[in-house]
Amino acid sequence: MRAPRLSFTDAFERIKSHRGVADDRGSAATSVLLAVLLAALVAVTVYIFAARIYGPPAAITSIGLRIDRQYDLTLYVTGAAFILAQLGLGYAILRFRDHGQRAQFTRGSTIAEVVWTSVTIVAFVGLGIAASRAWAEMRFTPASRNSIQVEVTTTQFVYTFRYPGADGKFGRLDPSLVNAPAGNPLGLDPNDALGRDDVVVPILTVPVNRPVELLLRSQDVIHNFFVRELRLQQDAVPGMVIPIHFTADRIGRYEIVCTQLCGLGHYKMHSFMDVVSESDYEQFLKRQAAPQ
Ligand code: CUA
Repeated sequence: MRAPRLSFTDAFERIKSHRGVADDRGSAATSVLLAVLLAALVAVTVYIFAARIYGPPAAITSIGLRIDRQYDLTLYVTGAAFILAQLGLGYAILRFRDHGQRAQFTRGSTIAEVVWTSVTIVAFVGLGIAASRAWAEMRFTPASRNSIQVEVTTTQFVYTFRYPGADGKFGRLDPSLVNAPAGNPLGLDPNDALGRDDVVVPILTVPVNRPVELLLRSQDVIHNFFVRELRLQQDAVPGMVIPIHFTADRIGRYEIVCTQLCGLGHYKMHSFMDVVSESDYEQFLKRQAAPQ
């Protein structure tokens, strides 16, 4: 038997009468579940940050400590906004769930819009201005005059460090002389007297509590110099010499990693920075100077 054709209005009436009055009250189960889920999400997130489960290693520069304080401040402000927004969302889901009431149209509140937009602007611009000081101290002030200069050359996929030697001056480099297998990875010109005492090594050694200025170069593509404990990250760009400076205040070995995707070997491009005592640093320079 062929079913009779049902018009849209008939179908709608049928559904209405079938659902009955009791079903129109809606269900609290879904909204309660969602609200509980949101509260759990907030609790887990707050725990992960409060317990510092993924915290960085301790900073070893005074600027690093300032950056950490700035990071914490940003985290408190954005964390408070996150908690309020998520719990508010959970509350609204519970409070305005389906009771079988008629849906209402609202134009919203202009005052509320203006208030929360202004609060957001003040918070973000304020944090940005406060953070710029920690940033500027490292980036916009030149290295002090008694800094130890070390040139950092990046190439796929190694770091090479050069010290100017006893004369305090770097020798001339000639790109056509670059030949790593022959022991001249930087292309030092053997005819330049200034370069004869230059020390070229694969690991960076610096004395503790002394200002250090690094001059970043690249021989091929964009690489990066990043030491977590210094809270310092800077790209090395071909054709540029980019200076950065820091004063490490704790003896130890710290990993230097490249954070720019620079080719197939990027994942293994790293080196180390040894922060040593003043006397160990003198020893290091002597040892390196001896064979040359
Ligand atoms: Cu060099 Cu990644």
